[in-house]
Amino acid sequence: MLSILKSNNYLVDLFDGYTDIHNHILPGIDDGAQNIEESLALVNELNALGVSHFICTPHTMGDYYPNTPETIHTAASTLRKSLAATENKSQLKASSEYMLDEEFSAHLKAGDLLPFTDDKHLLVEISYLQPPINLEELLFDLTHAGYIPILAHPERYTYYHKKPEYYAELQRLGCVLQLNALSLSDYYGTSVKKMALELLDKDLYSFLGTDVHSLRHISHLKKITFKKKYKSNLQKILSQTKENFGLQ
Ligand SMILES: [Fe+2]
Repeated sequence: MLSILKSNNYLVDLFDGYTDIHNHILPGIDDGAQNIEESLALVNELNALGVSHFICTPHTMGDYYPNTPETIHTAASTLRKSLAATENKSQLKASSEYMLDEEFSAHLKAGDLLPFTDDKHLLVEISYLQPPINLEELLFDLTHAGYIPILAHPERYTYYHKKPEYYAELQRLGCVLQLNALSLSDYYGTSVKKMALELLDKDLYSFLGTDVHSLRHISHLKKITFKKKYKSNLQKILSQTKENFGLQ
């Protein structure tokens, strides 16, 4: 029993100084924190795990979450003010997680996007049911416009599990891949965990994100363990996340 325990490590033990590049901590603009109290609770819990820098990525998704750079900046500003009032020194930058849908093409054409602090990286997601029929065209348009699309949680798109070679193709099309922390557990199902470990083992991920929406997610996050063989690749994606997006 002891040897089994020793062969596992807790993911959150690697979190010190990490910048979370995927989360839903902004108040009231998507399916994450619903109000400022929930936002503050999420930030405080993540602070306790060693995370104090956040790139906030609320959904921008058709009619479901019709966010704009303005709605996102307003929510980020509300949270910054509340954090300052409690002397919390967390640093927040505003961005978004963009669903690649028809509205996205319009945002791209209009230049109406909110990329990461380097003005290049942009977090994108695709439907869990099926990929957009024009995915490759959209990725071409994005990269041609100078963006580097970070594909959120590729392991969760189960339609790719039967053709895992397509993940490397997505990289050739200009995507970098972001692992969801919770995918290292059974939280999204065993097949998602299996694919996450396979992609991690093949060193196909560039970054890690928590994708935290709620305190329930954080309680699961705290329990995630991984086997020693994955430690160096996990450390690598955590350092890459910090080196690229650590806030000043
Ligand atoms: Fe997300």
